[in-house]
Amino acid sequence: MTQAAADALASAYAPVREDLERLQDLLHRELAAHDPFLMELVSHVLQTRGKMVRPALAFLCARLAGGGGADRDLVAAAVELIHVASLIHDDVIDEADRRRGQATPNARWGNHVAVLLGDYLFSKAFHLLSRVGRDDVAGRVAFATVRMSQAELLQVKYGNAPHTDESVYFAIVEGKTAQLVSSACAGGALVGGGDGELAERLGTFGLHWGVAFQITDDTLDLTSDPEVLGKPIGSDVRGGKVTLPLIHALRHADEQGRRRLEKWIRAGELEPLREALDRSGSLAYALEVARQHAQRALRVLETLPQGPERDSLAALTEFVVSRRH
Ligand code: IPE
Ligand code: IPE
Ligand code: MG
Ligand code: MG
Repeated sequence: MTQAAADALASAYAPVREDLERLQDLLHRELAAHDPFLMELVSHVLQTRGKMVRPALAFLCARLAGGGGADRDLVAAAVELIHVASLIHDDVIDEADRRRGQATPNARWGNHVAVLLGDYLFSKAFHLLSRVGRDDVAGRVAFATVRMSQAELLQVKYGNAPHTDESVYFAIVEGKTAQLVSSACAGGALVGGGDGELAERLGTFGLHWGVAFQITDDTLDLTSDPEVLGKPIGSDVRGGKVTLPLIHALRHADEQGRRRLEKWIRAGELEPLREALDRSGSLAYALEVARQHAQRALRVLETLPQGPERDSLAALTEFVVSRRH
């Protein structure tokens, strides 16, 4: 992450800084294990922190709804653990060796351990959620995880038979990323004391935010710098993930251009692919679609009570579409 991006996040997180610090303590307490090997794995998870954007959203929505006490910590912990578990599994599938600037669990301990560590974190997340004692909150987060698993399977299916269907892309993006963000926002609002109507609105905000976030991530996979990103680039192309810039370029190319694109995609040749996507306006197109989703997220915010939490949610929406690394 660039310093400018880190500063933008820190300022957006200001209303929930203490919540996020408390969350770190809770994760330490909850994941601690006696066995030295388990502890080594858990330490890796705790020491390689990401942006923490899902728990930050949950906390902001809880505060916007009125508060939430200890339950908001459980929801925030659960969504972050589900996210981290999904990344650990994603890195097995993508054969990625770096994440958050560190070696991935699959690179350090092999696929068997990485799959089981992901399972452990998923289970821990649901264990924590069960302590909230609210079916509506647990149901939303559980549903998001179901959608995530379905989308991951569809991604493999369509990766094997590359497509140019935007509706398939959006279904995958919504399922694998946006639903979890949506459940973080709605779940946060519910434990914060919000009613169903507020949770619904914040859930819709989170859905658009999540779609914008994943589209941006997909363009960064083609254009960014692995050092800044802390993870490899080009892994979507190598892994057969058909993302929005590729779909746009394939749809708008003539027969010869399409064959060239398919050759670079098959060979994982990033440099000529990136140049072609730039020339055809496909990267700009994807970023424009991300911006439209961000606009829809902002429009939902306009219907909510003004205050520092709403300002932070708006700043995080701007962050999604303005980050270039
Ligand atoms: C990465 O998410 C995976 C996507 C859904 C695009 P983040 O970019 O939030 O990852 P961390 O938590 O900061 O590492
Ligand atoms: C998002 O997909 C991963 C999940 C939602 C599980 P990506 O493959 O784009 O994630 P990164 O880029 O590896 O973080
Ligand atoms: Mg990946
Ligand atoms: Mg990605």
